[in-house]
Amino acid sequence: MGLARELLLWASRSDWLARQFQQRAFFRRASRRYLPGEDAAAALSTARELQDRGIVALVTLLGENITTAAAAEDVANQYTELLANIRDAGLDCQLSVKPTQLGMDLQDGVCLNQLRSLAAKEGQDLLWVDMESSEYVDRTLDLVETVHGEHGNMGVCVQAYLHRTGSDVERLVKRGIAVRLVKGAYKEPPSAAIQKKRHVDATYLNLSKYLLDAAASDGVSFSAFGTHDMSLIRSIQDYSAKKEVPANAYEFEMLYGIGRDSQSKLVSEGARVRVLVSYGASWFPWYMRRLAERPANVWFVAKSIVSN
Ligand code: FDA
Repeated sequence: MGLARELLLWASRSDWLARQFQQRAFFRRASRRYLPGEDAAAALSTARELQDRGIVALVTLLGENITTAAAAEDVANQYTELLANIRDAGLDCQLSVKPTQLGMDLQDGVCLNQLRSLAAKEGQDLLWVDMESSEYVDRTLDLVETVHGEHGNMGVCVQAYLHRTGSDVERLVKRGIAVRLVKGAYKEPPSAAIQKKRHVDATYLNLSKYLLDAAASDGVSFSAFGTHDMSLIRSIQDYSAKKEVPANAYEFEMLYGIGRDSQSKLVSEGARVRVLVSYGASWFPWYMRRLAERPANVWFVAKSIVSN
């Protein structure tokens, strides 16, 4: 792992740095590349603009590792209000939530109850759950499985870089839970995760093929390929055409601010594309992970500071 990436991922875990930087005007301006605004209204107007370009949306409230049950409840309430606003605005827009923001670090049951209540909300389409660092994977999958058993509308993110993901994907497909496959954005030790990028890419493609095969044979599996890697996307499309996978069995997902031209190109070719739009005041750790994905971006941040 490059030194710059290591440093950025280390910074993403520092509360002290988050407190220093989240309030600074220049840093807030720089974060706007990936974050249209800090409030829900900005996220929804972006979802509307995307819909006008033929792209559907996924919205998430930033923040992680909350420390009280009241904070988890507050997050769930904000999502409930967001869902009502999505419905009123007639947007094709799903929610993606983080377990530690709904209380996974607190006593048993807090996160489960919040997830249950969100999954049961009127107008709730597929409810996506993000995947955080590897220590949370077992608990996240257990929660998703429980709530899916009750409401049948859950999807969960899995990370291709983790050694365990092949068997997790098998388990999820068997239970009819939608899978969002990503490469993985956290700092993980070699015991948990593949360290070489080209090996992660190869694993991503193998897992994609497994998911497409499942969709072709069972006719119900649904997958989201969360990546901006056009070479992988083209390989997935080729494989899907070869196996005659129904077009509604999968979609490509990207992050707001990354790969805008690729998104438009895919849509113009008839692919289904969903863009994840984030909002919220606690954006620092998430922004550091975005910079770590492409450390060259740090120079753009530095340039924008100097030119302001
Ligand atoms: P890769 O890093 O190889 O990038 C491919 C190309 O995309 C690059 O060459 C560059 O052009 C462009 N690119 C990628 N990242 C960029 C950036 N930050 N800035 C500018 N250009 C960039 N991770 C996780 O651990 N848990 C999760 O729950 C999620 N959820 C999630 C949802 C969705 C919808 C997406 C798209 C991604 C995630 N991720 C995630 C993040 C994921 O793990 C991964 O870190 C990023 O998607 C970057 O990896 P790529 O697959 O794009 O490939």
